Amino acid sequence: MKTTVSLIKADVGGWPGHMSVHPKIKETAREKLSLAKEAGLLTDFHVTNCGDDLELIMSHDHGENSSDIHELAWNTFVAATEVAKELKLYGAGQDMLADSFCGNVKGMGPGCAEMCFTERKAEPVVAFMMDKTEPGAFNLPIYKMFADPFNTSGLVIDPAAHAGFIFEIWDILEHKKVFMSAPEEMYSILALIGAKSRFVIKRVFPKPGGKLPADEPVAVISTDKLYEIAGEYVGKDDPVALVRAQSGLPALGEVLEPFSFPHLVSGWMRGSHNGPIMPVAVKDAKCTRFDGPPRVTALGFQLADGSLGDPVDLFDDIAFDGARAKALDVADYMRRHGPFEPHRLPLADMEYTTLPKVMKDLNERFEKME
Ligand code: F6R
Ligand code: MG
Ligand code: MG
Repeated sequence: MKTTVSLIKADVGGWPGHMSVHPKIKETAREKLSLAKEAGLLTDFHVTNCGDDLELIMSHDHGENSSDIHELAWNTFVAATEVAKELKLYGAGQDMLADSFCGNVKGMGPGCAEMCFTERKAEPVVAFMMDKTEPGAFNLPIYKMFADPFNTSGLVIDPAAHAGFIFEIWDILEHKKVFMSAPEEMYSILALIGAKSRFVIKRVFPKPGGKLPADEPVAVISTDKLYEIAGEYVGKDDPVALVRAQSGLPALGEVLEPFSFPHLVSGWMRGSHNGPIMPVAVKDAKCTRFDGPPRVTALGFQLADGSLGDPVDLFDDIAFDGARAKALDVADYMRRHGPFEPHRLPLADMEYTTLPKVMKDLNERFEKME
């Protein structure tokens, strides 16, 4: 019996500005998903937020890309948008880019990470949620979890993890994908995913012949790019990820360890700045300072026959105080650059922001030089 976990998210309106999600929005989502659970469509669910993003974490047995599940998520966001409009929340319906549902939320605005797998005797799953950044922000931590022996000692010590993992990497500009094997192709993997605005890790698979089925993912990341769907800047993509842990996979602590380093990601204010990603408890996932700094939250679930049960707020822990202090130091340092690169993103990455509109008027004033 396989279980599917679907994490589908959208910004349906901010409270206030682009900072967080109003409690009534989450209440509305919980009501909708409760009805779906009563009707037997969902096995279980958990509703939360990261910054201004409404996050629906759902378990069910309908597999990936189920139109019933995607329609449920879409209708939940539609209902939440109605409430956002009544409350006059900021940017009500911001990520609802399509007029009506057409089979799958992909390409319609909401972000989606889902995976279908055979539930093990004990199945720990971590849901990561980021706000004010882009899908490539997951490249560094996911690489560290599944390919870096300095992060994951299991790659060295545990025979079940020793063979390494397969990375599915997407070129999100050219819409191509490649499967690469770690550790054998480690340097080539890094050559791609170091360029995080273009190459993003989509999934990680176990190697064939091991303890786990090689066709069932052990990690998945949402890669939806909002500007590609809308044709212009409508907010950063604010990605989410699901990661399975333990017994042949990175241990829970190895899954969390990469976030002890608040690496630089692009996003933050107006989706136009580099800044540190700060691991925080759900209650602290409020994007206040310069609309950030970008945040990441982590909820840990211990699945039981498809049920998610209650989550543990994994970054609600003093063990991440050091990362938060470092993130705030780096935030101060980066902010001192004001509108200068490399705090502000390079021009190529600003193409879909509002900057080209400012540049357009200036371009007319340039004179040719001899
Ligand atoms: C970043 C983000 C915010 C907004 C900023 C300006 O992803 O959502 O930083 O870009 O608050 O928002 P508008 O243009 O709506 O006033
Ligand atoms: Mg917003
Ligand atoms: Mg957001």
